Amino acid sequence: NLRQASVTVDAGQQAGLISPLQYGQFIEHLGRAVTGGIYDEHSALSDQEGFRTDVIEKVKELRTPLLRYPGGTFTKIYHWEDGVGPKSDRKKRKNLIWGGIEDNHFGTAEFISYCRKIGAEPFLVVNMATGTPEEAANWVEYCNGTGDTYYANLRRSHGFKEPFNVKYWGIGNEEYAETDAGRDQEVQQYIKDTWLFVKLMKLQDPGLKLVLVGNQDDTEWSRQVLEKLNPVCDFLAIHLYSIPADTSYNTLIKSIDQFEKPLLDMEALLSKFPAKVTNFNSWYRFPARTAPIQLAVDEWGIWDIHSNRGKGLFQMEYQYNWSHALGVATFLNLFQRHSSSVGMATWAQTVNVLAPIMADSTGSYRQTIFAPLKAFRDFSGKYTLKATTISPDMATGIKALDVSSSITDQGKQIVFTIVNRDAAHAINTAIKVDHLPNAFKKGTIRQITWSAGNLNAVNTYGHENAVSMKESRRKISPDHMNALLAPASFTVLILEQP
Ligand code: AHR
Repeated sequence: NLRQASVTVDAGQQAGLISPLQYGQFIEHLGRAVTGGIYDEHSALSDQEGFRTDVIEKVKELRTPLLRYPGGTFTKIYHWEDGVGPKSDRKKRKNLIWGGIEDNHFGTAEFISYCRKIGAEPFLVVNMATGTPEEAANWVEYCNGTGDTYYANLRRSHGFKEPFNVKYWGIGNEEYAETDAGRDQEVQQYIKDTWLFVKLMKLQDPGLKLVLVGNQDDTEWSRQVLEKLNPVCDFLAIHLYSIPADTSYNTLIKSIDQFEKPLLDMEALLSKFPAKVTNFNSWYRFPARTAPIQLAVDEWGIWDIHSNRGKGLFQMEYQYNWSHALGVATFLNLFQRHSSSVGMATWAQTVNVLAPIMADSTGSYRQTIFAPLKAFRDFSGKYTLKATTISPDMATGIKALDVSSSITDQGKQIVFTIVNRDAAHAINTAIKVDHLPNAFKKGTIRQITWSAGNLNAVNTYGHENAVSMKESRRKISPDHMNALLAPASFTVLILEQP
């Protein structure tokens, strides 16, 4: 049952810097994602701030560099002033998007504190559906203001002398989509509204990095947004959700492989805009963009509605099995291969909702998808290497192997992240490195493989052993480097200098 494949890279040809922000996470006031997930004031498992300590330990293991908040679609009804100041004074509101009551006890300051605890940069998204440009600019002042002005002073009066320095701001979320509280906007309307938001927010803080709403399914929407707003667009947002139509494994993998196309389409579009803007109207008292526009895949993940274990359809508490973990590794390879354009990506979401971590009143556990999310953060290099893969098919139109490769900062490690998606065959893979520096020739190959008993294997409370990890080392023999890749496995292969 052994099949043959090969992967070739050129150690001398770095293809692009891998932005650390590719490994971000997202949290939203949706079901038990925030309250009942990362935050529970009434749990014995929480610290004094109300953060679940068992959950925070697991979130920290993920080493996320970026955390997006408060939505998602929730932003369309969120008014940030409801979530600041003494908790007893905060307004309770119906969560008109996702249902339930939002007591707003987790708001801006709690979010910032959470980011600091897990070592992540905060990324806030403003309400442009039922909020105003002025409200958004006030939020910028509350977070970043340093002068003697109302909202900066309001923050100080809440106990935060130092500014929060929030650099990344999203202007709206999926504004092209009709939702309960949002509207199905025409792109011209989005452009006009966004320009007002940009001006007021940048006048508060010219250093903000802005994420504008793109549309991966509608290149024309994205083109028009960039045509008009490219001088102030640091990142163009797209959302990549695999929503497999049935429970078949091949359908799942195919649904993720097809995302190569929107990334290529978006890259072709971005290439039409200059790396920096030199002809910006100097009348504006804030600078234009000085670096190339990048993509923010600020929501990505797998909606396998067949695996919903939440109390309702909109709780989105999916139980991820090993097949989903192989899908996540495939997604991460895709982003790494496209690292020249993917400047940030935030997995939707973090706890309970579409999540790598589940929590209830008794405890918490890591789902199967936790393994690839963590592995990429732990082992990926700094620059991508272009990998050429010759792989057998596992079904019509689906390659068994999915690969990306990278090299570390000082060039001392060459890393391959390889998913053998074929559940029936092990694959003997020849690893070929052109221009391998001599220093590697006395080095070692470290192979770490994650696998599970079967594609349906899942973790649950008290049983977190569906995924096993095996590690081995051997000497590099430059003319004959092979890796045996187990069926339905995910492998990190590291060539290391002595
Ligand atoms: O992540 C759940 C929802 O999916 C988000 O609120 C929305 O932006 C997306 O459609």
